[in-house]
Amino acid sequence: MEMGIASASGVTMREHGLEAPLPGGRTGYFNFYWLRDNCPTSFDSETRERTFDIFRLVREPRPASANIAGDALEITWLEDGHISRYPLEWLSQYSEGRRRSDPADLPRRAWYADHYPDIARFAQPRLMVDRKQVVKWVEALLVEGVAILTDMPDSDEALTATVRLIGHVRPTFFGEYFDVKTHVNPTNLAYTAKALELHTDTPAEEMAPGVQFLHCRANSVEGCMSLFLDGVAVANDLRKEFPEAFKLLSETLIPYYCEHDSYDMRSRQRVIELDEHGEVCGVTISQHMADIFDLPQTFLDHYYPAFCRFGRMLQSDKYLMRFRLNAAECIVFDNHRIVHGRAAYSATSGERYLRGCYADRGEMRSAYRALTTTGRFK
Ligand SMILES: [Fe+2]
Repeated sequence: MEMGIASASGVTMREHGLEAPLPGGRTGYFNFYWLRDNCPTSFDSETRERTFDIFRLVREPRPASANIAGDALEITWLEDGHISRYPLEWLSQYSEGRRRSDPADLPRRAWYADHYPDIARFAQPRLMVDRKQVVKWVEALLVEGVAILTDMPDSDEALTATVRLIGHVRPTFFGEYFDVKTHVNPTNLAYTAKALELHTDTPAEEMAPGVQFLHCRANSVEGCMSLFLDGVAVANDLRKEFPEAFKLLSETLIPYYCEHDSYDMRSRQRVIELDEHGEVCGVTISQHMADIFDLPQTFLDHYYPAFCRFGRMLQSDKYLMRFRLNAAECIVFDNHRIVHGRAAYSATSGERYLRGCYADRGEMRSAYRALTTTGRFK
């Protein structure tokens, strides 16, 4: 076909691609490599994987002919005579280079100190048998970053089975599960459990775990309050009120560490994380795992005031949700978004036992897509 001249059906050849008329009267440009690579026959219907090998082409693929046939673009390729048919509706999704829409890319809803009564709650036994409930649960985790599961069976297996609804248990450098146990000796009246500073978990990992599960197996200790806050709410307010501080915290990589005899974990993270749209998607904060800042001292003249301003905002009553996690509850939250800790408490009797683990956020989103949409191949 001649370059630059429209065929009878309106297809115009260009140097490295063609222009085709699309539904709605638009014209779209498509690259020849892209067209050849994405011929519907390139994909195996059983495995749903691409089986065509674009790397074996010795030169740029070129059409011998290209026409509109019905509601499709039909190309006969010069090299091997292969015929490709592309529905125009399908082509128009890719004509502007827009990212494929993602059902798991839901807008976040920031929450504040008064969120406790409104936290999405799901009875775990029902979750195990009702996929619609699983969808709502993941939606809460994507939109608000937190949910509470109730009526959890008092067993290790229940936690694992719950995680398996949205992925796999994701190990960290200290293993697959962790146990937080406090025994309060009734004879020791002076017992005081120290406050646990506000943090996100294991920032020293290159990829800190995405979803955290904390299964409360026992809590007979009085006055032990959990502290949770939405890092997105705080970072959004910082952005509005102190844009310079926000810029520093969302652009600067700072070092985190976790070191002992047999390990030396190190990573660099931004305190405020932005998503592909430039929106705040989370925070990474941990004073006990922040390494000594190895940045130019004159830069720290600017960074430290911003860092401390944000740290003080995190502790503000506007954001801090205080509540008691009860036995048979499991709080599930986005470890890159929800900052958590524990208020100091003193008690004379009781036992507190939390068993925790993590799952991957990518796997959670995958589960959500699979439960809510048909994908490209169904
Ligand atoms: Fe933690």
